[in-house]
Amino acid sequence: MIIHILPDADRLGALAARHIEVALLGVADPVLGVATGSSPEPVYEALTARATAGTFRVERLRAFALDEYVGLPEDHPERYRNVLLRAFADPLGVPADRVAVPGGAGADPSAAAAEYERAIQRAGGIDLQLLGIGRNGHIGFNEPGSDFRSATRVVELAPSTRAANARFFADIDEVPRHSISQGLGTIMRARAAVLIASGAEKAAAVAEALTGPVSTELPASVLQRHPRLSVYLDGDAAGLLDLSFLGSISVVHDWR
Ligand code: GLP
Repeated sequence: MIIHILPDADRLGALAARHIEVALLGVADPVLGVATGSSPEPVYEALTARATAGTFRVERLRAFALDEYVGLPEDHPERYRNVLLRAFADPLGVPADRVAVPGGAGADPSAAAAEYERAIQRAGGIDLQLLGIGRNGHIGFNEPGSDFRSATRVVELAPSTRAANARFFADIDEVPRHSISQGLGTIMRARAAVLIASGAEKAAAVAEALTGPVSTELPASVLQRHPRLSVYLDGDAAGLLDLSFLGSISVVHDWR
């Protein structure tokens, strides 16, 4: 694991985008796992700049979303398919049909989840998965208690997750109660993972995930077992990391 600590979210986005570009260089048909939430926005902005400059090539890129709400109408602006088209695919010039998102609007979400897992396998697996982290340590929508071997499935959102995501909706009652999420097993099968977090409200989850016990109670802690994990944090999100006891973890303070 390599942890990069940056002064602010923009610098974090710039370096995480450079990391993604370099990691996918030389992959003939790259498959990128994409996340929603506020954290990835600076990464997508920096990736867009790199695509515009011609260094990040998107012609053969395919993307797979981490998760999707169950039950939002297809035209709802907070449906993750729509969020990802707006924040990621359209600015980068990735055609919509090369962005896969679990089918949360259909009649049978469980079948859609199983089909999504198969679609990832058919694509040859995910080369690099971009991840944010929830305040309770969730990744994707894998809430505390999720099985480390879990596949893409329907999950019930924790009350704290619905409360955190209420900012995107007019009212908390509008926040869906279920989602389809890549499982922790799915995420761990990605050939590389990049975890990003900014802000003091993530500091406790980040410290627990990276240096606490590996436990299903803190789902992101499973990432300690990922063979190719890179972490990009701003100073606030890194605030509770005890840098003197990190053992084999490399820490890079990149303040330039
Ligand atoms: C959401 C998403 C996660 C995301 C997390 C943190 O619920 N399902 O994939 O990582 O919450 O979001 P943010 O980056 O907005 O804090």
